[in-house]
Amino acid sequence: MLPEFFEFYNPTKVVYKDGIATDLKPELDIIGIQKYFIISDHIINGVGLVDKVADGLKEAGCEPVGRFLDVAQDARLKDVKKCADLVKASGAQGILSIGGGSVIDTAKAVNILFSEGGDLVEDYSGAHTLKRPLKPHVVIPTTAGTGSEVTMIAVIYDEDNKEKLAFPDKFLLPNLAVLDPQMTVSLPPKMTAATGMDALTHAVEAYVGITASPVSDGFALGAIELIMSRLVQAVENGADVEARGAMLIASNMAGIAFTHSMVGCVHGLAHTTGAHFRVPHGVANGIFLPVGLEYNFEYIQDKLARLAPVAGVMETGMSNEAAARAVIASIRSLTQQLNKLNALPLRLRDVGVPEDGLMTIAEGALNDGTSFYNPRPMDAEELLPFVQNVY
Ligand SMILES: [Fe+2]
Repeated sequence: MLPEFFEFYNPTKVVYKDGIATDLKPELDIIGIQKYFIISDHIINGVGLVDKVADGLKEAGCEPVGRFLDVAQDARLKDVKKCADLVKASGAQGILSIGGGSVIDTAKAVNILFSEGGDLVEDYSGAHTLKRPLKPHVVIPTTAGTGSEVTMIAVIYDEDNKEKLAFPDKFLLPNLAVLDPQMTVSLPPKMTAATGMDALTHAVEAYVGITASPVSDGFALGAIELIMSRLVQAVENGADVEARGAMLIASNMAGIAFTHSMVGCVHGLAHTTGAHFRVPHGVANGIFLPVGLEYNFEYIQDKLARLAPVAGVMETGMSNEAAARAVIASIRSLTQQLNKLNALPLRLRDVGVPEDGLMTIAEGALNDGTSFYNPRPMDAEELLPFVQNVY
């Protein structure tokens, strides 16, 4: 059945090539500015990736005019302010961010203050408050998970008020997303597994979500097929450039899918588990994805069944219910394979969640913004047994 209405807006140019992050001249010439401010973090800088990209910038005739490397695990409001001041003082004409979701989200928020001035919270809270394009932003992701290089949202942590602030705005979509597997080969197995499960959850939740469209479905299906067939390889052998490339492309496609059709209760559960018990986002998604699909099962069965071919579990004569259950089983099997590689925990007790915290998690998922988009109405009492299942 077709949706009554949908829109698709994806102005970010995506380029993929092994080694392209240090060989960007044709793309930078099109953007047409020379002075870039680099935003990254100390881990990425420590493995030499920032220097490599900065050298590539110079070879392309551009000038790296400054660096900010203090992005923490969460993109923090105070860092956005500090970094924006440095960018303004540097004489930069645009921003180049190299990192995972926190770095990219920080850079998106910095670009608001750099381009438009003002105060992030006072002037830009709410959705779609920007009136015109921001200054150029080039993104080089170093994880294959968030898809933030193609999403129209920045999530920033306000440490003083202990809350995560979301800034959804189409003008936050970067100008250029550079997918280079060389930028992810040094990612450790646990990070590879967790970020890969985040990408898979984006794609699956976007696909079965209530605001999915045939266009977002295309991106989600492509992402799911790549992740189901390549994530284990990328975890087993980080130097496998083919598997790394497949995961970067998949994460990008999953990002395009979910920025258009949103995510549901698995992300709701992961957000609240992260906020209360500091469980990393991708790990929590990996734990909750199978049971979140089971919670929604009656509402998504027919759609989920259509994932059976891309998950590699379709058999002749299978009913929709059997195909949908086989899809969930294949996702569970993937998480078990990752667990055997010591790359992904499977239970909440193994990531420091106390048993008396389970109701907090179920209730927290209800209050998360994703609950509006979940196929089955959210009910904490009904959700609780599914959370207990993964304790
Ligand atoms: Fe996510």
